[in-house]
Amino acid sequence: MGFEPKKFIEGAISQMRSQVGKKHAIIAVSGGVDSMTAAAIASKAIPKQLTCIFVDTGLMRKNEAHLVSTAAAKAGIPLQVINASDKFFSSLKGITDPEEKRKIIGGLFIDVFEQAAKSSKAEFLIQGTIAPDWIESGSGLRDTIKSHHNVGGLPKKMGLFLCEPMRELYKDEVRKVAREIGLPLEFSERQPFPGPGLAVRIMGEITPQKAEIVREACAIVEEELEAAAHAKKMEMPWQYFAVLLPIKTVGVLGDARAYGYTIAVRAVESLDGMTAKACRIPPEVLEQISDRITRVLKEHVNRVVYDTTSKPPGTIEWE
Ligand code: XMP
Repeated sequence: MGFEPKKFIEGAISQMRSQVGKKHAIIAVSGGVDSMTAAAIASKAIPKQLTCIFVDTGLMRKNEAHLVSTAAAKAGIPLQVINASDKFFSSLKGITDPEEKRKIIGGLFIDVFEQAAKSSKAEFLIQGTIAPDWIESGSGLRDTIKSHHNVGGLPKKMGLFLCEPMRELYKDEVRKVAREIGLPLEFSERQPFPGPGLAVRIMGEITPQKAEIVREACAIVEEELEAAAHAKKMEMPWQYFAVLLPIKTVGVLGDARAYGYTIAVRAVESLDGMTAKACRIPPEVLEQISDRITRVLKEHVNRVVYDTTSKPPGTIEWE
């Protein structure tokens, strides 16, 4: 018997009701399919006991706060937007180690959640954690590939009880649940976005300026690949984005010497994110992406490369 989303939703709703009881809960949505689906389940299970927040870390996709607020309003979920970007950038200053970044981000999210929980008197934190999150974060005999912020980043003593209705699901199953529960298509079919956001797409130290650069580059990659897929030049990739490398290389801007950053473009085919293959993008589409990135970001970026690595041995995100 295959996965049955309707049955799963009924079970998750009744389990959440019995776990949370008459208490209050908070959930943070990131705009990704996992957290939006968890929020949709929670808004059906405990609508009057739920506070839904969106934390703007400064490391979100372009126009994300607006997009998520509009979609949540359409789905009848009132959303509180919390701007915490100063807090995130100042805590990440000077940090280059990927695991350290992830742990710091996990801790900051919990600080913000605890603060929001205090104001709404919530005792539960609902999360859209799915199976690959805790598998790759290492548990029992497994090695830690990456500390997914909603797992490995959680402090040992957290003042909130966790409620994770989708812990055993894989991405393809989450999408089935999202469709069944009636999330708008732009969310149920949306490509995954990592919890730590653009932080894992900025190699080396994170600064507000680097976040702006990679945010714009990600938006260009998304727009160009979506346009190419709609024009039937290629299949829609499972995930596609840009990564900002910390090294600078020499180029030319007009008649002058330039010394700018490199953007790596990543686009993969996958079923559940556990393994992946780099997409075969038509050369003219790659060229268009490269031209646009180096034009729009000409003050900062003078080289664009394409990552052809599979997972394994690479991972999908670079950190
Ligand atoms: P990797 O990079 O490990 O990623 O091959 C597999 C999938 O998971 C996403 N990802 C995350 N998702 N929290 C999340 O919710 C995280 O910390 C995280 N790190 C990676 C990644 O974008 C890919 O879809």
